[in-house]
Amino acid sequence: MQTDYYRGKKIVITAGPTYEKIDPVRYIGNYSSGKMGYALAEELAMAGAEVHLVSGPVHIKAEHPGIQLYQVESAIEMYDACHAIFPDMDMAILAAAVADYRPEQMEQSKIKKTADALTIHLVKNPDILSSLGHAKKPGQLVVGFALETDNELQHAADKLERKKADAIVLNSLNEKGAGFRHDTNKVSILFQKGLIFEFQLKVKRLVAQDIISCISENLA
Ligand code: CTP
Repeated sequence: MQTDYYRGKKIVITAGPTYEKIDPVRYIGNYSSGKMGYALAEELAMAGAEVHLVSGPVHIKAEHPGIQLYQVESAIEMYDACHAIFPDMDMAILAAAVADYRPEQMEQSKIKKTADALTIHLVKNPDILSSLGHAKKPGQLVVGFALETDNELQHAADKLERKKADAIVLNSLNEKGAGFRHDTNKVSILFQKGLIFEFQLKVKRLVAQDIISCISENLA
């Protein structure tokens, strides 16, 4: 790693799932554990970065004192927190599993099971990675993640272009032990101009080290 690259750098990281409220007692969520984003936050803080961790609801804690935690619940809250912080940042790493859709309105009272069927109308959430990618200024870097089931590299390359990211970390869902809820992960990292690096299945802490080394070596 270019050892000093991250010293003093300001980095916002998103992690975990988002919860989209249906009524006061129910939500739409996903299985993201937050482990990948938190591992990145720890590694970057240890490398001397000032880390701002915007986290959805998770069961893990950030240990390093150099990590400033912003706890959010919904995609809109995560979007607002990221946009408030980003103008002052050198880099954003978007590792959260943001819900693509939310209920159009949250019911104020618990929904009673009177009807035989229930339809919840969903509307699209704003895309945090894409909005930061399009808002970034010269000198700011934006790194996203992708989770694909088919044509993985092609979809990840499309995402890199569409969301104006500087790099995309592709999680392989087809690999045993990789992705959601596992302690291990297997990633490939794509940069502009078709540059791709592939890594072996490893514990998320070591995957985080690979990611931050690969980013500093290719984007510094
Ligand atoms: N992402 C985000 N905000 C959203 C949705 C996704 O910031 N509302 C970010 C994720 O944190 C990740 C990247 O976008 O870094 C890719 O997310 P993914 O779910 O794979 O892709 P989508 O944009 O949802 O595209 P699709 O579902 O069509 O594959």
